[in-house]
Amino acid sequence: MFLGVDVGTGGTRAVLIDRDGKIIASSGSEHASIRSEHIGWAEQEPEDWWRAARQAIAGVMAAAEITGTHIEAVGLTGQMHGCVILDAEGQVLRPALIWCDQRTQPQCDWLTEKIGFERLIELTCNPALPNFTLTKLLWVRDHEPEIFARIAHVLCPKDYVRYRLTGEFAMDMQEASGTLLLDVANRRWSVEVAEEAGIPMEWLPRLFEGPEICARINVAGGAATGLAAGTPVAAGAGDQGAGAVGMGILSPGSVSATIGTSGVVFAATDSPAKDRLGRLHTFCHAAPGRWHVMGVTNGAGLSLRYFRDTFAPEGSYEELTALAAEAPAGSEGLMWAPYLFGERTPHLDPKARAAFVGITASHTRAHFVRAVLEGVVFSLRDTLTLFAELGVPVKAIRLGGGGARGPLWRQIQADVYGQPVELLEAEEGGAFGAALLAGTGVGAWASVEAACAATIRIAQTIVPRNATVMNGAYAQYRRLYPALKQIAGRQS
Ligand code: XUL
Repeated sequence: MFLGVDVGTGGTRAVLIDRDGKIIASSGSEHASIRSEHIGWAEQEPEDWWRAARQAIAGVMAAAEITGTHIEAVGLTGQMHGCVILDAEGQVLRPALIWCDQRTQPQCDWLTEKIGFERLIELTCNPALPNFTLTKLLWVRDHEPEIFARIAHVLCPKDYVRYRLTGEFAMDMQEASGTLLLDVANRRWSVEVAEEAGIPMEWLPRLFEGPEICARINVAGGAATGLAAGTPVAAGAGDQGAGAVGMGILSPGSVSATIGTSGVVFAATDSPAKDRLGRLHTFCHAAPGRWHVMGVTNGAGLSLRYFRDTFAPEGSYEELTALAAEAPAGSEGLMWAPYLFGERTPHLDPKARAAFVGITASHTRAHFVRAVLEGVVFSLRDTLTLFAELGVPVKAIRLGGGGARGPLWRQIQADVYGQPVELLEAEEGGAFGAALLAGTGVGAWASVEAACAATIRIAQTIVPRNATVMNGAYAQYRRLYPALKQIAGRQS
């Protein structure tokens, strides 16, 4: 059996699967909440991920009533882009600036000025965005030079957990794509970007393809988790890459729409499909020899969570979505712009701000919740609009994450995308995909494609019911951002 470990934002999850892709057991452990000392800042402690990973791994083995020797291989995945910096002794130098931290626009501007917008896209396939790891490193350079001077290693969150499990510094191509230090087209670190940015190449970990075995559990990692020393560890992928493997999104035309904390529309491609304007991310796929494009909504599931925590702290998500179902499609003109953490696709604007627009006295709480669900899906449709513009084919859309779990959010997605959406039998997110990569790495399947073919099955197809209404509502939604830009978030 294979173990997948997903070091997410809210918590770490461990999943054990067999060779049919059946989930044997799963277990999770929550992380401490994100620390946000100033607006737009977001930090977490790597030690807390390691604590949660130990608990999740020990928990899943206890649930399955097995010992470490039963596990043939481990695959890792996790929240992408976070910047973990270590000194020469492997000690963490400061809390990690994580993916949704928005403080690094000045560093993005500096880098873009230094390398040039078009040249940066040529070298890395992507523009400088505050989410990407390199810009976070540059912030440390500018604001904490004494810490910057002590850096010896840079890792992303799951790769830090790998380091604690194995003692190895390693990263997969898909994750590395999100650092802005990878030559995505050629699948190697970009010496040119590193030099221009003043980042020594020795800081960067060794690169591997997603299913490659890059390390083994060491004695300390085994003692901390119950895993057997010597167990092979596959490189894995960032959560979006591993999630796509877990949903079988491998060949051109297959697309996923995943609503987790963030929302992602992901399309597999055969070559790096660059957006000249940098509105989509163009990354290496977790499957060797493939690439992908994706658009990211920063505040997707986060919108619903924010709404609940702020306005209905006593309510569960189920109660809230049941309430939302009482309001009609289109929420009678009430709209939600989900820019709680600025926005990536398509606006690339860390200063974008969220808003409810169009409130009348007849709107009830049901309308508000429905408007939140719809606004999030409209923002995902913006990515599909870009795919159409760039000629990225969309044959079938598979749903993932929390947005796939309840019937209402699923239906809203079919309605807003204006085409049938597919639901998978087991949609277990990144941890499942990471376990498939691990199994492929030790030869249980001949390739990632074979792993997906053996394990992924469609459970249900949902057809649009309100496509016309939602098409009109989407046209209205498209007018929100340009209007909001005039009035919100520009004070600083
Ligand atoms: C992807 C991204 C998020 C994080 C957190 O680019 O930033 O999906 O990986 O889930």
